[in-house]
Amino acid sequence: MSAPSAPGRSQPTILMCPPDYYGIEYEINPWMSRSRASDDERARQQWKALFNLLTSLGATVRLMPPEKGLPDLVFTANAALMWNQVAFLARFRHAARQGETPCDEAWFREQGYEPRSLPAGWDFEGAGDALFCGETLFGGYLIRSDAGALQWLAAQIGCPAIPLQLVDDRYYHLDTCFCPLTTDTAIYYPPAFDDYGQRALREQIPRLITVTDEEAARFACNAVVIGSHVVLNTGCPQLEAELARIGLTPHSTELGEFIKAGGSAKCLTLRLDGEDAAVWP
Ligand code: ARG
Repeated sequence: MSAPSAPGRSQPTILMCPPDYYGIEYEINPWMSRSRASDDERARQQWKALFNLLTSLGATVRLMPPEKGLPDLVFTANAALMWNQVAFLARFRHAARQGETPCDEAWFREQGYEPRSLPAGWDFEGAGDALFCGETLFGGYLIRSDAGALQWLAAQIGCPAIPLQLVDDRYYHLDTCFCPLTTDTAIYYPPAFDDYGQRALREQIPRLITVTDEEAARFACNAVVIGSHVVLNTGCPQLEAELARIGLTPHSTELGEFIKAGGSAKCLTLRLDGEDAAVWP
């Protein structure tokens, strides 16, 4: 397969973390149930297939070392919000994930990024809850992140921010119900937002693709964009058809073992060089 990349950008660079210690060890979202364990071998295969697919589409994948006792470290989207060389570190709402932040911080520092912590008192779950579409930073709040954190980030970055209240516990991170594809196009699942949020998205983003209830529950919105390629879980044929209709190329790969933890393709990745839809001020 050829290795396309977005015009005017260097090679897309993505952070992933191998699922060596992945598992359903606690329940912090409605998808997780300790009685529905993940299958280690299948999880490893699914993760590897995602890794291979992203690599085949031209991405360089960097690896965070897995840590015993941190089963959700695989969801690198939550490590930080990237802005140039700065990594704004997460402050996880649930104690179960707070042990990830020292690992994330150490990795960013060793790799020459500049990790920055948010002021105490605000929770914030990285790129899981903060996504650029163009120069605007869209932030999900209430369930995992605080609106104040988004305002603070936007002031640091010097960009407009649109806070979006998340109203459905199943779609507890913004990246489970919203996915910028280009600077003027995004995927969303309207019922995950209140009326204000739905209206704000419609006003801000010229082209919005709506996903169905069924495909939202297959994590249709949790997609990874690499240039004109969109990588997502299986079971989203309507979204795939819509993406093809607007000239994008969908690639589906089975990620069912990670859905058991409430995550899919996007959650398993962090775009270190900025998402294709992002214009960093
Ligand atoms: N089990 C993890 C949690 O509940 C899943 C995180 C998914 N990540 C994401 N960016 N949506 O925190």
